[in-house]
Amino acid sequence: MRLVFLGAPGVGKGTQADRVSELFKIAKISTGDLLRGAVRDQTKLGLEAKGYMDQGKLVPDSVVIGLVGEKLNEASSVPGFVLDGFPRTTPQADELGRVLGEKKMLLDRVVNFEVPRETIVKRLSGRRSCPNCHATYHVDFSPPRKADVCDRCGESLVQRSDDRREAIETRLKVYEEQTAPLIRYYGEKHLLSHLDASDSVDAVFAKLTKVLEPYRGA
Ligand code: AP5
Repeated sequence: MRLVFLGAPGVGKGTQADRVSELFKIAKISTGDLLRGAVRDQTKLGLEAKGYMDQGKLVPDSVVIGLVGEKLNEASSVPGFVLDGFPRTTPQADELGRVLGEKKMLLDRVVNFEVPRETIVKRLSGRRSCPNCHATYHVDFSPPRKADVCDRCGESLVQRSDDRREAIETRLKVYEEQTAPLIRYYGEKHLLSHLDASDSVDAVFAKLTKVLEPYRGA
């Protein structure tokens, strides 16, 4: 099963990608997590990416494509993958098609998550993340058992630097300008499913698994 999760920041792609990865035993590849890992490790790539990420802008295509290429090579030997946050521009989508074509692989489904803007802002401003294992929480909608501590690994939770109000505004604008055109791109390839992701995490997951069930084992 080879999937792409598309949608504005905060629609819940990462939350659902974790669950789908566990249920269908496929790899989750999140460019946001990979980039934040590089920033934390202070690699050359991380230092280059940090300024863009803090402002809510996209990291240049060349940087992200290099990062994902390696992971796709690893993922081609497992039963599949879900790409969370990649591709985000037309050149990235073209590159993904090229890399998969070289491996004689095709995408099975691109899911477009849809949530009203005011819900997105609420989700992002209350998000807390684990810098160690990447688990995601929300102060109201899915709080950890102990305040500010990760249930999974016990690390202290943090608020992402790009979840500040100004960065959220920039990210939503950047999404409309650079990523939303991919809805049409994948629509024309007959790969797109739209998903109303404004319900609870469990309700969205139930709808999503129905959409993906036909591709189980693909
Ligand atoms: P990235 O980490 O990919 O951020 P994003 O796309 O902006 O997405 P988010 O992680 O903010 O949201 P999400 O949809 O995953 O929502 P989540 O599940 O966490 O990218 C960060 C930055 O890295 C980018 O701005 C860019 O600079 C760079 N970057 C990354 N990829 C790149 C690329 N390909 N090219 C160039 N640059 C790139 O949920 C959000 C919150 O809502 C959580 O608190 C969660 O608990 C809660 N929640 C989730 N679902 C529900 C629900 N159904 N009901 C109630 N609450 C919910």
